[in-house]
Amino acid sequence: MASKVRASFERTGRNYIVTGGAQGIGLALTQAIAEMGGNVAILDLQDKPLNHFSQLANTHGVKLPYFRADVANERSFKVAFKGAVEALGSVDSLMTSAGIALEKPFGKHTWDEVNKILEVTGTFMATQLFAEQVEKQGKGGSAVLIASITSHTVLPSHRMSAYPASKELAPLGIRVNSISPGFIDTEQTKFVRDHNAKIADLMFNAPPLKRIGTTDDLVGSVVYLLSDASSYTTGTDIAITGALHVGRQIDT
Ligand SMILES: NC(=O)c1ccc[n+]([C@@H]2O[C@H](COP(=O)([O-])OP(=O)(O)OC[C@H]3O[C@@H](n4cnc5c(N)ncnc54)[C@H](O)[C@@H]3O)[C@@H](O)[C@H]2O)c1
Repeated sequence: MASKVRASFERTGRNYIVTGGAQGIGLALTQAIAEMGGNVAILDLQDKPLNHFSQLANTHGVKLPYFRADVANERSFKVAFKGAVEALGSVDSLMTSAGIALEKPFGKHTWDEVNKILEVTGTFMATQLFAEQVEKQGKGGSAVLIASITSHTVLPSHRMSAYPASKELAPLGIRVNSISPGFIDTEQTKFVRDHNAKIADLMFNAPPLKRIGTTDDLVGSVVYLLSDASSYTTGTDIAITGALHVGRQIDT
């Protein structure tokens, strides 16, 4: 008998758009989807993605078109999104991983820096464009927004966009979920660690699991949320933090 579970995780021939996929979490997700047989269009600010991206398409026999775009700029973003849909032919799923972080004391942030960090229009508009396209196709879809565990504790962030979007888009058969990573070893956190030993120590030792997370720790949950195995899951958030959101490790 054919395995229903395996089939529900099958991604071959499905089409994905990933914002911020040139490196870090977005690139790791792109790789995971390619491994599962999915085609991925990447939209990112950088001229080109990290080196190993170029081999992924051949290794896995999938399409991986790349579009240079600023998700905070309406024109640039819309042109790239349209190009991505044309290159793929249709789109089943969206992941929003474009984002920046700034490690500075609260009182030292400038007006411009705060505006830039809280620039959530990219996530909002990506979900809107995605919903428009999926509605036209009439087959439903799934979006996974990359939020942050900081949105559960201190800072306003992307997370809340998943909840209202999931309610409004449910009648169109579109599921919207998010993941909230804790400290994950990427170029973004490496830069911070290289400049602040105290924060570096925090990233490795504060999570009760006593290590920093890796992008491999995230991909399984995202593949699950994108797949048919999660077809009754929408409007939820998965915290992937090594238990950081439960409390910091205290050595006794
Ligand atoms: N690394 C972590 O510990 C961690 C934890 C929680 C949440 N996050 C969030 O996850 C997302 C990805 O983080 P990461 O660690 O992979 O970061 P990263 O800096 O390694 O990668 C982010 C990517 O987004 C792109 N990008 C940034 N602004 C853009 C814009 N305006 N338009 C298009 N592309 C843009 C960058 O060029 C880069 O390729 C971010 O939103 C980050 O805040 C990261």
